[in-house]
Amino acid sequence: MDLKKKDKLKKKIFIKTFGCQMNEYDSNRILDITKKINYFPTTKISEADCYIINTCHIREKATEKVFHDVGRIKKEYRNKKKPILIITGCVAQAEGDLILKKDRYVDAVIGPQSYQSINKVIKDIENKKKQYDVTNFDTVKKFDELNSTSNNNSKVSSFLTIQEGCDKFCKFCVVPYTRGPEYSRCFEEILDEADKLINNGSREITLLGQNVNAYFSKNKRLSDIIYALEKKKDLKRIRYYTSHPKDMTNDLLEVHKDCFKLMPLLHLPVQSGSDKILKTMNRKHNIKEYLKIINSLKEKNPKIEFASDFIIAYPGEKKEDFNKTCKLMETVRFINSYSFIFSPRPGTPASDMKMVDEKLAKERLTIFQNIAEKIKLDYKKKLLNKIVKVLFENKMTKEKEKYKYFGRDEYQNPVIVYSKKNIIGQEKRVLIKKFSQHTIYGELINTDNFLAA
Ligand code: SAM
Ligand code: SF4
Ligand code: F3S
Repeated sequence: MDLKKKDKLKKKIFIKTFGCQMNEYDSNRILDITKKINYFPTTKISEADCYIINTCHIREKATEKVFHDVGRIKKEYRNKKKPILIITGCVAQAEGDLILKKDRYVDAVIGPQSYQSINKVIKDIENKKKQYDVTNFDTVKKFDELNSTSNNNSKVSSFLTIQEGCDKFCKFCVVPYTRGPEYSRCFEEILDEADKLINNGSREITLLGQNVNAYFSKNKRLSDIIYALEKKKDLKRIRYYTSHPKDMTNDLLEVHKDCFKLMPLLHLPVQSGSDKILKTMNRKHNIKEYLKIINSLKEKNPKIEFASDFIIAYPGEKKEDFNKTCKLMETVRFINSYSFIFSPRPGTPASDMKMVDEKLAKERLTIFQNIAEKIKLDYKKKLLNKIVKVLFENKMTKEKEKYKYFGRDEYQNPVIVYSKKNIIGQEKRVLIKKFSQHTIYGELINTDNFLAA
């Protein structure tokens, strides 16, 4: 077939992604899969033949947001051919039937463990124009499809999902219901995918899982994957995300001493500083155990810093429980923290529990976030005039930002420098000069072409 004809057959697909890094990884892989049926990614919403909303169900108003987005798409395409509209992700899994019933404009809902069906669903919609509900948990088939589909991601920093689902059943959380039971991918397949990413230009790999440190496949653990990646010549950095404190096994703690490429920042969600609340959450760890992990990691790698997630005003949280959460923040001095007021999720045990008064909950969140912000500011001030190592990910696109490059330091802080040479994919030493709320600015050192950013 001549090239022009082939181009005409090409269709365009657009994905809007919400939620966690695992959704981001899935969206990229969906784009890899749909290329097999001639759908190629577009960044222009208005020209998509297929529009996918990859959704998150972790906090309130998730389903309303989907209907809101569907309304916007209807408007956008009012005078054009309707795109195939598919809702994927955790809202599709949890409330897919409701979405299909309520809005005939939606052609299909596909749950997170069913993306292997996406090409068939798109083709069926093209031919039959009926609605599809694909929300079975078939993680093995999902990864069979992903293993046979080349990962075309060519970003300097890439995600690699190694584990899916959760068996922990924290009482507030929808993940065990939307992502299904824990499943670990085969060790060899993970390393194959890592090789492809490195060949494509990835210099940093973040291993992903809802409980990434629960990874276990044929006697291989997360530590085995990290040791294997450490040996990959062109890979500069390794991270893993998100971990459960209960699965911080000794072999994993040890990796933080042994592996030079493993970055010294660990995101370890704690949720609350009160043992009483942790127990009612069914978190399976207490604060003493949590602090033991933190201290042990500091011994293994004195450079290590921590990030965490917090739920404020969980049902039953009294003032003394909240104070313990603030105290934990002050003790560990997390350099990044994600805190939200408890949000009752339909179908989870905590959704039936008595909520903390809304005004009080908001007050507590503000107090907590002020403490967290102050700690972050102190941390950033200490970075001034220090030399940090930055892996450069891309060049800034705006004309006024010509010659500016964006990268991240070892602690994932975003750093911008000026350089006339292309430094994408390179790790460079940078002298930190100033910072704003979201960005740090520095100068490249030991190069012949640096200027202040
Ligand atoms: N697996 C991780 C762990 O063990 O903590 C967390 C995964 S969850 C996708 C990310 C974060 O969302 C949680 O750490 C928690 O702080 C927050 N979260 C989950 N359910 C929530 C709820 N019902 N209300 C508020 N925050 C919630
Ligand atoms: Fe949700 Fe708890 Fe599982 Fe994390 S460990 S995904 S918070 S149920
Ligand atoms: Fe959201 Fe599902 Fe991730 S609920 S946080 S997209 S696992």
